[in-house]
Amino acid sequence: MLRVAVCVSGGGTNLQAIIDAVSCGEIKDTKIVGVFSNNPGAYALKRAEEAGIDNCAISPKDFSSREEFNRAFLDKLDEWDPDLVVLAGFLVIIPKEMISRYRGRMINIHPSLIPSFCGTGYYGLKVHEEALKKGVKVTGATVHFVDEGTDTGRIIAQKAVEVQDGDTPEILQKRVMEQAEWVLLPRVINDIACGNIKLG
Ligand code: GRF
Repeated sequence: MLRVAVCVSGGGTNLQAIIDAVSCGEIKDTKIVGVFSNNPGAYALKRAEEAGIDNCAISPKDFSSREEFNRAFLDKLDEWDPDLVVLAGFLVIIPKEMISRYRGRMINIHPSLIPSFCGTGYYGLKVHEEALKKGVKVTGATVHFVDEGTDTGRIIAQKAVEVQDGDTPEILQKRVMEQAEWVLLPRVINDIACGNIKLG
């Protein structure tokens, strides 16, 4: 049984895709052991709650130093003892200690075809705004391992999505989510659970 912890900051539609895929058996042999958020108001926490998944919000604002927050964050993840940590729209810089502890066992989803439109500052609508500005005809999503850089870890899987005439950043974001992110992330987790993708 693959033990998965998911880290989220916002709406949690990717989390929902994972929850649904586990419950319908599309992701096999997997248990979501916990959902962590830095944002107590994240709708993703409600999704976890509704699915009966252990969840926890710890805000950096509640700590006098970043180190203390990092410690609380790491302790919480360790408590769940996950085999795999999934960053699904998690807007927190991952502490170095956590990266080395979970090296090869932590993955992230990014809403572009890396190495395009990624790195510092490329999150949310900005990614799709820049893709449209550049005039690319194809974009997509990437699942990759997490290392010390921003969106620099080894690529695991990618899925392409067409850009269409008249797209706005919002329309493109929605298409990338529907056609790529919500499909790709559950597929990768299942491949890990089934041993088709090796961790470590
Ligand atoms: C997604 O676009 C994901 O690729 C990015 O952040 C967004 C999170 O959306 N890393 P949601 O919270 O899963 O709805």
